[in-house]
Amino acid sequence: MLIKFISCAGESLKVKSIGKVNIIGSGLAGLSAAISLAENGIPVNLLSVQGSGRAQSNLAEGGINAALDVMGEDDTVNEHFEDTMKSGCYLADPEMVRGLTYTAPEIVRQLDIAGVPFNRRDGHIIQRNFGGQKKKRTAFAKSSTGKMIMTALTDAARRYEAQGLIIRFPQHVFVSADIKDGACSGLRAYDIFRRKGLHLYGPVIMACGGMSGMFAGHTTGAAVNTGLAAAELFCSGAELGNMELIQYHPTTFRIDDKRLLVSEAARGEGGRLFFDDNGKRNYFMEEKFGERGNLMPRDVVSREMERCGRQIFLDMSSVGNDIWENNLSDMREEIIHYSRLDPAKEPIPVSPGIHYFMGGILTDISHRTNIKGLFAAGECACAYHGANRLGGNSLLGALYGGHIAALSVYDDIKKYGTEVAGIADDEEMGYDITESDDEKRSGKELCETVLKGMGILRNEEGIKASLDEVKELRIKAVSKRIERKALLMEAMLLSALNRKESRGAHVRTDYPETLDEYRKISVAEYKDGDIRISLRDI
Ligand code: FUM
Repeated sequence: MLIKFISCAGESLKVKSIGKVNIIGSGLAGLSAAISLAENGIPVNLLSVQGSGRAQSNLAEGGINAALDVMGEDDTVNEHFEDTMKSGCYLADPEMVRGLTYTAPEIVRQLDIAGVPFNRRDGHIIQRNFGGQKKKRTAFAKSSTGKMIMTALTDAARRYEAQGLIIRFPQHVFVSADIKDGACSGLRAYDIFRRKGLHLYGPVIMACGGMSGMFAGHTTGAAVNTGLAAAELFCSGAELGNMELIQYHPTTFRIDDKRLLVSEAARGEGGRLFFDDNGKRNYFMEEKFGERGNLMPRDVVSREMERCGRQIFLDMSSVGNDIWENNLSDMREEIIHYSRLDPAKEPIPVSPGIHYFMGGILTDISHRTNIKGLFAAGECACAYHGANRLGGNSLLGALYGGHIAALSVYDDIKKYGTEVAGIADDEEMGYDITESDDEKRSGKELCETVLKGMGILRNEEGIKASLDEVKELRIKAVSKRIERKALLMEAMLLSALNRKESRGAHVRTDYPETLDEYRKISVAEYKDGDIRISLRDI
């Protein structure tokens, strides 16, 4: 018997109605934007390669930050604001960060009402320590916070799906946006199963995640977030910001072609980093930074680990049974499953892995890009996180950013009305979703080349050498897809070359100082076949 799980192959697409706004990506930022527009009665098309249940947002573990002030520490939204700015090395727009951090408590309260099973004591949400913050500010659902929030939002979205206000287009790949004279009026997508093109009109919100797919084997992120949508938009005139700023999460370990995240919650709950010094444990972070050494911001921890130049271990022997049972049981199970080591009983070897892209499609405070009608939110956008994202701010940034992008679209619709809302279906489109072996090989080569120049520690010689190689690989590219990837990587390398200072995740051994004149956004533009990098005031 042939079991078919997806029955649309060959069938024509039958949708009851069509949305006025198009959202690319059904992870947290996409769902947040879709729900916010649907709440305002605006029907949206929600396109994604994979369903919400498989979005990268589900992988977020440790929690979401909000100054709820429930732990008796006198926490305030202003301290959350300050910590976010400081951790981002003052490269984020303070007004944007203020909006994010001041709204955070309300967001967590709404999530609570929506049914997220936050850990509680005596009926109240509890919060844990996380890196870069002195107060316990991270609300969590064991170590599956992302999954739990996604479950609640997917559920909330269903109500609007039933009303025809959220119209899902699953298994659809974004191909290009209709951009003319600096304005976006729609998009083209490819239906993987029917192998047909789809042309949708109206404003577009990009919520397609970061670029981890380009760094397979080196990242905790999802392979499906290829960065190709950002590359396509870049070539069509969208500006990219801070492409050199890539976050390495300090505690990951390799499994096959992926890196498994050991949540910062492990250190938040008492885990300690050390290396073996002739049979003696050297707790190097505590040695250098004191009591809170293990909870320094991620850029600082990763850098110190890299400088140690030897295998680092995470010691969780001080974590009590109640914490393992109530707060970290799923993390423990996962580590045992993949490493065969029980973190409650023995130290686990860890090393930094690519985890988040602070840079991406450049937006203003309202999540507008430089292209009218094109918006971006979530990890694909360069928005809140400056030079180093604070752990626990990614789920928050996705929820808040998606909401703000939706409000901006709604404002535009109220002001200017919707231009055409519509669909052209069944266009023949040549698009090969599967990468050929040649593409896989070239993608891997590109990735290894970039990482030689753009590791945790960088210098001009290394960046230039990588840049030359990437350019050559682009010229020899076996497909448009590889050419686009190479272009994005060149934008990263050129931005890194241009930032002649060290700030957050960008550490130049040849320019170790942080300089006022570089407290600016690196802007990458693609013009006449060339990438131009400039610095712009925040
Ligand atoms: O370590 C973590 O649980 C990751 C959280 C985050 O990136 O915000």
